[in-house]
Amino acid sequence: MKKNISIILSVLFLLSVSSSYADKSTKQATDVKVWSDTTHSGETDKAMHLKADKKNGIEVYEVCSACHLLEGWGTVDGTFPQLAGQHRSVLIKQLADIRALNRDNPTMYPFALPESIGDEQAMADVTDYIAKLKMNPNNHKGKWAKGTPEFVKGKKLYDDNCTECHGKAGEGDAIKFYPKIVGQHYSYMIRQFEWIRDGKRRNANPDMVKQIKGFSDADMAMVINYASRIPVPKKDVAPVGWQNPDYD
Ligand code: HEC
Ligand code: HEC
Repeated sequence: MKKNISIILSVLFLLSVSSSYADKSTKQATDVKVWSDTTHSGETDKAMHLKADKKNGIEVYEVCSACHLLEGWGTVDGTFPQLAGQHRSVLIKQLADIRALNRDNPTMYPFALPESIGDEQAMADVTDYIAKLKMNPNNHKGKWAKGTPEFVKGKKLYDDNCTECHGKAGEGDAIKFYPKIVGQHYSYMIRQFEWIRDGKRRNANPDMVKQIKGFSDADMAMVINYASRIPVPKKDVAPVGWQNPDYD
């Protein structure tokens, strides 16, 4: 009898959690449709609502680690972005967009397909795992140190044009699918920023495109320099030299 009650209680608890989640996701649906209508109704939504299995997340991530590395830190030359610590919603949306060819990524495409890693459950598992990894203590930074005129100008550009979506500390917004950019590699961010400005990243947020269309290459370098130098909160960073123990 006791057992039955606890089952009923946990079912009720789960129902209340999932219905409050559903409220949020209705809001997301309209937000997201604007810049990702091909995928949002499908995989993104499904994966967002599945409970993650850590063991499978570790297994699936092994494929990804060939490029994004076992720690999820990417490479300082910017070829591979850091994924560790990114919002799970952002990881899911980007992965779904890449799978649906809504964001071009020929290098990764074959590895991201359902045939390779599995369906929405695999997406839910691997993104939950990645989002919980601690971040790179040494991300690639732009060349202008704090106090230089370029740093100062970059900060002003950032404060005036980016905080509304990416936040003052580069933290992004998980509910709205706005990426965290704090701690990301300078070289990767430059490429994405340029592609978004010039219309090459097809899944880009149209409001961001509008906001940055007047940016010269010099402005771009200064604003990304600043973004790459925003300190990552201590609680989110791994110690220097940390190696992922899940792959001993
Ligand atoms: C063969 C190399 C390769 C493999 C394997 C790979 N990726 Fe990628 N991934 C890339 C590259 C390159 C980019 C950046 C593309 C660009 O510049 O637009 C990327 C970008 C991403 C992004 C977007 C990041 C962002 O900040 O927007 C996500 C999410 C991602 N990968 C997840 C994964 C996951 C999950 C796996 C495993 C299932 C995986 N990748 C496997 C090469 C790879
Ligand atoms: C209106 C909201 C908005 C504004 C303003 C905005 N962004 Fe974005 N930004 C986004 C969204 C949303 C994405 C992800 C787009 C997608 O889904 O592919 C993004 C992506 C990026 C990326 C690529 C991140 C990645 O992981 O691939 C960088 C870098 C970036 N923004 C920098 C900036 C900077 C710097 C500014 C200010 C000059 C700025 N953004 C202004 C919403 C915004």
